[in-house]
Amino acid sequence: MTLEALAEVVGAEHVLTDPDLTASYETDWTGRFSGRALCVVRPGSTGEVAEVLRRCSEAGLKVVVQGGNTGLVGGGIPAGGEVLLSLTRLTEVGPVDVAAAQVTVGAGVTLSRLQAVAREHDLEFGVDLAARDSATVGGLVATNAGGIRVLRYGSMRAQVVGLEAVLADGRVISRLAGLAKDGTGYDLMGLLAGSEGTLAVVTAVRVRLWPRLTQRAVALLAMDSTEAAVSLLPGLRRSLPSLSAAELFYGQGLALVRKHSGLPAPFPAEHPAYLLLECVDRVDPVEQLAEAVSEAPGLLDATVATDAAGQRALWAYREGHTESINAEGVPVKLDVSVPTGRLPELANALDATIRDVCPGARPIVFGHVNEGNLHVNVLDTGDLAEEVSDAVLRLVASMDGSISSEHGVGRAKVEWLHLSRSEPEIAAMRAIKDALDPTGTLSPGVLLP
Ligand code: MLT
Ligand code: ZN
Repeated sequence: MTLEALAEVVGAEHVLTDPDLTASYETDWTGRFSGRALCVVRPGSTGEVAEVLRRCSEAGLKVVVQGGNTGLVGGGIPAGGEVLLSLTRLTEVGPVDVAAAQVTVGAGVTLSRLQAVAREHDLEFGVDLAARDSATVGGLVATNAGGIRVLRYGSMRAQVVGLEAVLADGRVISRLAGLAKDGTGYDLMGLLAGSEGTLAVVTAVRVRLWPRLTQRAVALLAMDSTEAAVSLLPGLRRSLPSLSAAELFYGQGLALVRKHSGLPAPFPAEHPAYLLLECVDRVDPVEQLAEAVSEAPGLLDATVATDAAGQRALWAYREGHTESINAEGVPVKLDVSVPTGRLPELANALDATIRDVCPGARPIVFGHVNEGNLHVNVLDTGDLAEEVSDAVLRLVASMDGSISSEHGVGRAKVEWLHLSRSEPEIAAMRAIKDALDPTGTLSPGVLLP
């Protein structure tokens, strides 16, 4: 098939081959993953996605699917020679269904746009993460994104009440009624959430929306250890129904964020660990929050922000991590989780595990403490990136953990999937892949070995 056959479908201006135009699609923003695509195709409707896929699968072309290109595991980056299907033109936003508290949006709608649409109707979308201005809804579904609100609302899969997706051969699956109860068989929507573009191409998503709560309090606690931060959680969950985020970071990460952002120190002294807490409610939660943390064992210092600017400033210490790490170099990014009670054990073992295989490495660790989820970013690994990844992921697996908590498997973690998934599980996943994409058109090399 010639590229003219794709241009017939989407228009010649939406089939890109000029390296100056394709470059930004072919490298991920961390700079770790890159690969040349045969071309970048930018369909403008579900019908165009369907026709592009039909033509590609008939011609034996492979397709890699991309949203906002904010992924961290290379799942949206070509290995070489695939058609790169960019969904950023699917930006339609349907009417907000206030009765059901749902809305249907195109896969290319950004997270921040969806959040704004919900707020216009006094509603809230349940997922939030730092890449909100670029990350797209389709990508959030494809990776079953987590982020900073999982504690309160669950991950992306829990927000999806309907989906439209195109199978590799161009057939469209559409379940967009958003029925709260539907007992008619397999949960295909749940299956596509987290399938990383390997089973079908998500073109539209119907999501649930939550009542908007406008009263917010944010506290930054300095803690003497990870143990102290984790021990605080059960009491916080019990006494603070308004708890919406619990984020952990450490002294090294804070220093890096301050170096690159110029932010002032949050406390007069440096401390081993920092816990960022946010409560959101109908009535001002600041007193509840202050009371809940005041007697916390291991608490060394604390600051509470009640106004929006102060809250943004506290969040900047946490949300600045990713960018600051990237400004230092190309990190090995590992995104792991263990049962929450074992998080201190993991956190305490990481440094020695990494330095054993790479003495010069610089680990920067932060994460979502309630889910036992740590982002282990390792700088200065030189040519030992593989060894560092292997050591950390084996440590995590030995603790009943997951080698990918919320970023997906992508290309980066495929060789370690067996640490988190048994052989029969991988065989079952492979059987599903073969059933839905028998020609192996979609995202070869992503997720499955
Ligand atoms: C985060 O929690 O900030 C994201 O998962 C991004 C990252 O891990 O760098
Ligand atoms: Zn995260």
